[in-house]
Amino acid sequence: MITAPELRALKGQRPSVWITAYDVVQAQVAEESGIDVILVGDSLGMTTMGYDTTIPVTLQDMIHHAAMARRGAPHTMMIVDFPFSTYADVPTALRNGARVMQKTLANGVKLEGGHDIIPVVDALIKEKIPVVGHLGLTPQSIHTMGGYKVQAKTLVAIERLIQDARELSDHGVSAIVLEGIPDRVAAFVTDHVDVPTIGIGAGSHVDGQVLVFHDCLGLSPNLPKFARPFAHIRDDMIHGLQDYRNAVLHKSFPNDAETYHISDREWEHFLTEYKN
Ligand code: KIV
Repeated sequence: MITAPELRALKGQRPSVWITAYDVVQAQVAEESGIDVILVGDSLGMTTMGYDTTIPVTLQDMIHHAAMARRGAPHTMMIVDFPFSTYADVPTALRNGARVMQKTLANGVKLEGGHDIIPVVDALIKEKIPVVGHLGLTPQSIHTMGGYKVQAKTLVAIERLIQDARELSDHGVSAIVLEGIPDRVAAFVTDHVDVPTIGIGAGSHVDGQVLVFHDCLGLSPNLPKFARPFAHIRDDMIHGLQDYRNAVLHKSFPNDAETYHISDREWEHFLTEYKN
């Protein structure tokens, strides 16, 4: 398992490969595939719980899913998202950080934000909880951002992003997720911080990539521009269930090999003895 210091040390060596996972099977296949880091993202609110945003996701939801993911992938670094409004102040963040670490056996937590959350970042790291930052398009700020829009496209916004990234890096985060920003901005940030940048919709000049499990494997009905489906699991599942349905309707399932049997002797005995 990669540790938080090893993750930081990967910068400049090789890209790290992250994927989200929210349950045992997803985590198992992530671990078997050699993924470096499993992110139990609050995107589970949309991929798995059917919400339109990540806002309704609770800490208990995160703990429930992260504990499942950990059981599926005991040997892979696992980072768990702090969901909406669970790290608004230091005491709350410390209490919630302890719950996440103890109940899920995570290796760290991820928080959205920059300068404003530095006191929380400091407190968590002091409490020996590794922190991953998240800048750019931060879905928990959907209502203040006014939609899922590419961020950091103006001088002021780019300067603020660079400042936030530098502060997070200087205060000891293990990595920074950069979401939904222009590739040149992501490259500039990557070259000006000491910690790995992990891109999602941030181009290729970053220190690693993260994708949402459902986008990566073709489970999502709609794909964002930046995602590439490396498999087509949704189609496979539909074809499989259609085949199953047809086999049941045509009585070709189950066949003899898929059926349990009783000996003739036992069956004759039953028919002779059975009194209804
Ligand atoms: O919640 C999530 O899955 C994330 C990734 C999109 C980075 O934060």
